Amino acid sequence: MESFAGKLAVVTGGGSGMGRELVRQLAAQGCSVAACDLNADTISATMSLAQAGAPPGCRVTGHVCDVADEAQVLRFRDEVLKQHATRHVNLVFSNAGIGGAGSFVVDSRQEWERTFAIDFWGVYYCARAFLPLLIASSEGVLVNTSSVNGFWASLGPGIPHTAYSTAKFAVKGFSEALIEDLRINAPHVRVAVVMPGHIGTDIVTNSRRILGVPGVEQMSDEEVEAGRASMTRFGAVAEGASVEELRQAMARAGDAFRDTAPMSAAEAAETILDEVRKGSWRILVGEDAKGLDAVVRAKPEAAYDFLA
Ligand SMILES: NC(=O)c1ccc[n+]([C@@H]2O[C@H](COP(=O)([O-])OP(=O)(O)OC[C@H]3O[C@@H](n4cnc5c(N)ncnc54)[C@H](O)[C@@H]3O)[C@@H](O)[C@H]2O)c1
Repeated sequence: MESFAGKLAVVTGGGSGMGRELVRQLAAQGCSVAACDLNADTISATMSLAQAGAPPGCRVTGHVCDVADEAQVLRFRDEVLKQHATRHVNLVFSNAGIGGAGSFVVDSRQEWERTFAIDFWGVYYCARAFLPLLIASSEGVLVNTSSVNGFWASLGPGIPHTAYSTAKFAVKGFSEALIEDLRINAPHVRVAVVMPGHIGTDIVTNSRRILGVPGVEQMSDEEVEAGRASMTRFGAVAEGASVEELRQAMARAGDAFRDTAPMSAAEAAETILDEVRKGSWRILVGEDAKGLDAVVRAKPEAAYDFLA
């Protein structure tokens, strides 16, 4: 696919971060986009932003949809077909995702399953709903967002990361398994898997809101203590910080995650779109992702002995 101009793309999780940037950049390149999000306000803002930067004839629509609910995904698909007066789509970016339920042992089963449902079943339901529409096009690409946690199931020492990593491994496995399936059964459609490293987005804040995690001010000292390892690991507090310092740092964690990233959402979306255009199927985003991939491949047995 040499150009996105004149094509129609579907983007999930378009209300923020990389999803918003994918919508904006696709539209700026003359690609019509149907974007969904859980959040009606942010998807509407993305739609206005992208439409304002799009050339004439390019249409951007925003839809409210929970990708973890198959009935909502099917409704989203039907809205896309109707509002874009089409019977096919050319690109599907399954980008929506959240982080949560780090521990299988102590975190709630409800939070674990909600995180997994968004991060894996969301990708699966979108493939079920939209792959037939990619097959109906003359040339289609399914782009599934995994993570470096799709090949390394960790955030580092002392920080369990189970629900997200399990889902992201599943997204990577599903996408890789589709390569040969599509080659045989729909050779004009291909699949790509995106594995970003640390990208500057509001995913920490958005995930907490979506999971209904209480604000830091409502947390007990014990709950605040539970976050010490990850806060220290990301340099958000010094070793030996008091509980109060830890609490304050946790309140700033979402902004810190966004502001200390080596790559912005706009740069990440640019990389993803460039690689999709080139025909890559394995898209590592950021030097940190490339470095981690090399280390894990070189010494898989040592992957959890800790790398950094
Ligand atoms: N930011 C990173 O460092 C990073 C690294 C690796 C992978 N990723 C992955 O990249 C993707 C985009 O993340 P981001 O960092 O741009 O996050 P983000 O929070 O900025 O954007 C994600 C969007 O998805 C939406 N969303 C969440 N659950 C949804 C659902 N059930 N249905 C529809 N929309 C939903 C959110 O409302 C949000 O607008 C995610 O899959 C994430 O796991 C992010």
